[in-house]
Amino acid sequence: MKQIFCFIPFIVFAPSLQAADMGKALFFDNCIACHGVTGQGDGPVARDLNVPPADLTRIAARRDGVWPMLEIMSIIDGYSRNAHSREDMPVFENFLDNEMVEFDTGNGVTVLVPEKLIEIVTYLEALQDPAPTSYVP
Ligand code: HEC
Repeated sequence: MKQIFCFIPFIVFAPSLQAADMGKALFFDNCIACHGVTGQGDGPVARDLNVPPADLTRIAARRDGVWPMLEIMSIIDGYSRNAHSREDMPVFENFLDNEMVEFDTGNGVTVLVPEKLIEIVTYLEALQDPAPTSYVP
């Protein structure tokens, strides 16, 4: 848990929470306890879980290089929870209750999506190692 407290100053004193920083702050605030600071699944709580937290730098690698924006959003906000439940991975409904921004699904359709959800998933996208080779909405 020590690691978490080290990052609180960053969150509190971030000068202005600009879009690019918002995803990072949300990640440090909500995800690192399990997924670890680097997202590789080695957070302090990880060893207490039945299911090991996924390595979040390998989301695309696990899907043959494809970055599935909407699938990742629904894993986090719980929309598709009925379709494939993920033991020990909490649902972040609070990410839904904030300003809605336009999101281009890539097939000519624009939908309104909560800004926090977009920012956290954009942050995860930047963590991918190797970078995604293709994208699906
Ligand atoms: C309480 C621990 C815990 C916290 C906190 C947590 N996760 Fe997870 N997460 C898990 C576990 C465990 C899994 C693996 C579930 C499985 O494989 O069934 C997982 C899986 C995932 C996956 C699926 C990866 C894939 O390739 O399918 C994503 C995406 C994810 N987490 C994102 C996040 C994000 C973003 C946050 C913070 C907003 C977060 N998690 C917070 C435990 C956690």
